[in-house]
Amino acid sequence: MTREEALDSVKANVDNVNLVKHMLVTEAIMRALARRFGEDEEEWGLTGLLHDIDAELTENDMSTHSKLGADLARELGASEEMAHAILCHNEAHGIPRETNLDKALFCADPLTGLIIAATLVRPDKIMAGLEAKSVRKRFKEKSFAAGANREQIGLCSELGLELDEFIELGLEAMKGVAPGLGL
Ligand SMILES: [Fe+2]
Repeated sequence: MTREEALDSVKANVDNVNLVKHMLVTEAIMRALARRFGEDEEEWGLTGLLHDIDAELTENDMSTHSKLGADLARELGASEEMAHAILCHNEAHGIPRETNLDKALFCADPLTGLIIAATLVRPDKIMAGLEAKSVRKRFKEKSFAAGANREQIGLCSELGLELDEFIELGLEAMKGVAPGLGL
């Protein structure tokens, strides 16, 4: 599958523009993580890009979310490793994270929400001026963007990454695509 095919399929299955943006910034973090660890950037990036492709189709029903997504990804030509990462990013299935790809997607997913929320409370609502130290401060404010699961973000430790490094890497990766997304 090419990136264009993956993105076309995402757009065909997801109407919510913010959800598409969420998948694009997840892709950006996954690509940066792949580069950091010398992994396959295309495989990791496309896993991030596709991971919530079924969110509207399943109406966010956690008992089916990500099972359908994994099937759709396979139909597009995703490897079994990619499908597994998509499947187990929804903890409701109780499927353990095995590979680094599984672990990377799991912690990257909520980091995007925290960084976007930290962007949107800025006067200019633009990510370019956001600093990693501000994101770290927001991370510690439990009531801020409470949906961005801090424990899950902290599981970057499963990859051997310190939280500070993960936030910096994630923020820089997201900044790279933010202007194209109006962020
Ligand atoms: Fe997600």
